[in-house]
Amino acid sequence: MSSFTNERIAPTSASPNMKNYEQARGHFRWEEVESEFTWHETGKINMAYEAIDRHAESSRRDKIALYYSDGQREEAYTFGQIKSSSNRFGNVLRQLGIGKGDRVFIFMPRSPELYFALLGIIKVGAIAGPLFEAFMETAVKDRLEDSQAVAIVTSPSQLPRIPVQDLPHLKHVILVGHDLRLEQGQVDFHQAMESASEELDLDWMDREDGLILHYTSGSTGKPKGVLHVHDAMVQHYYTGKIVLDLKEDDVYWCTADPGWVTGTSYGVFAPWLNGATNVIRGGRFKPADWYATLQKYGVTVWYSAPTAFRMLMGAGDELVSGFDLSKLRHVLSVGEPLNPEVVRWGLNVFKQRIHDTWWMTETGGQLICNYPGMAIKPGSMGKPIPGVDAAILDDEGRILEPYCMGNLAIKTAWPSMMRRIWNNPSKYEEYFRFKGWYVSGDSAFRDEDGYFWFQGRVDDVINTAGERVGPFEVESKLVEHPAVAEAGVIGKPDPMRGEVIKAFIALRDGYTASEELKEQIVRFVKTGLSAHAAPREIEFKDKLPKTRSGKIMRRVLKAWELNLPTGDMSTIED
Ligand code: WTA
Repeated sequence: MSSFTNERIAPTSASPNMKNYEQARGHFRWEEVESEFTWHETGKINMAYEAIDRHAESSRRDKIALYYSDGQREEAYTFGQIKSSSNRFGNVLRQLGIGKGDRVFIFMPRSPELYFALLGIIKVGAIAGPLFEAFMETAVKDRLEDSQAVAIVTSPSQLPRIPVQDLPHLKHVILVGHDLRLEQGQVDFHQAMESASEELDLDWMDREDGLILHYTSGSTGKPKGVLHVHDAMVQHYYTGKIVLDLKEDDVYWCTADPGWVTGTSYGVFAPWLNGATNVIRGGRFKPADWYATLQKYGVTVWYSAPTAFRMLMGAGDELVSGFDLSKLRHVLSVGEPLNPEVVRWGLNVFKQRIHDTWWMTETGGQLICNYPGMAIKPGSMGKPIPGVDAAILDDEGRILEPYCMGNLAIKTAWPSMMRRIWNNPSKYEEYFRFKGWYVSGDSAFRDEDGYFWFQGRVDDVINTAGERVGPFEVESKLVEHPAVAEAGVIGKPDPMRGEVIKAFIALRDGYTASEELKEQIVRFVKTGLSAHAAPREIEFKDKLPKTRSGKIMRRVLKAWELNLPTGDMSTIED
């Protein structure tokens, strides 16, 4: 939650692709963005063609599209090479009989192969489902089951976490590794790539055909499969230009993993649609390695997250002073509120303003942003991009005045808006309960200059280190542990991670609270679901507060945690 100050940081000397915000808003039409692509005339489209092949067939053929490093591998690929490799993978899929509309998942650590696979899936018209590499069995199973995926691209080390026997639709497991001993239904990625042709007639799609399925968390029920379509490229391309401010000579680095929407919309599509050189770093976060990455590739545009910035800040200013970051000209942030002190720190150490951007998995692309060339108010998410109208609505859907806190909503529609929640039309409808608006689930207010200020989530979704965690998914895992009778999960404010996960647990008879038991339960979630969803804190209680219908009242747990009044308890059981 950020408090309002009218401090302004004027733009630096960067020359933005959008010269004047008000003017751009006034004249904006999405059709003008579309006309930059030739599909504008044919109506047929393919994201991978526009991101890679279009450049490979131009003077950018031998331009570096991808610098990859992870501490062990260090590689560079041109647009021409990525075109060939993704063509090969497209052919591998076609030989397996995979094509338009099929769901093909990717579950592996970041590597160039991951990106070839993603593009190859898109080229044959299949729908890509990227999964975060740290997911454990339950998380993987829920997502593959819900989407009825037919194939998965994975690494041998992750194979044990894919419960193939419980997934009847999953026909093919494509393994990226060496010296493989293949079993039935498995394909050796490298071998198959070698024998596949690098020529491919890709599938031309309709604008509304499925592109990518990102699972994200809500407060109740299993994760939701958010479907995006090829038409999203209009927004990715446009925001890449005006928000990321990408130009021909830029070397761009987005630190997000493609398991999250930022790692695809802005780690793959936006930079490549704009023909930029894209830096991808594998491996774990280490401040010195990150600065070294910025220095080594001469990164000019850098998109990261508040948690990462706070960790870099925590690593001390002396560390950063040892690196030459003079090429850096534009820095952006997404995923959670960007603290004003982090913005000030950025000004000090990078001599750069950090530009906050707001959007969600469901929105597919940036919507409310700070732009180069516009004054930044630290603590504010900025203003809607041209072509997008945002407002604060009350609980009846009426537009509120400036400084009134309410539901942050976006006027429908924009090109990268989700088109479906997989298998769950009623969930989809909930977002559009006020006619003509998409309701985000965030609360915010608007100031008199049209800047938006994030205040919190309306629901119980936890945002830990920029990642959305659904409390229900964690609670469901917790109650599978033999010692746990009931569990309630909340986000607890944390200076580094924004929020951390705290679980309140009532034990079954015969179990006694102990530190060992806590550790055991944490490990149970880590190995069963995923590390980022495991509680950092556990508190044992004799009983949890519940409604008469038996729902655990997270609101009351949160009030306990924050020493706040518990509010209306009229629906509580006994
Ligand atoms: C939060 C990530 C404050 C918000 C692209 C949103 C933010 C949720 C910001 C979406 C920001 C994202 N300031 N909060 N600039 N950006 N959020 O789907 O609560 O992983 O609803 O998408 O993150 O998270 P998601």
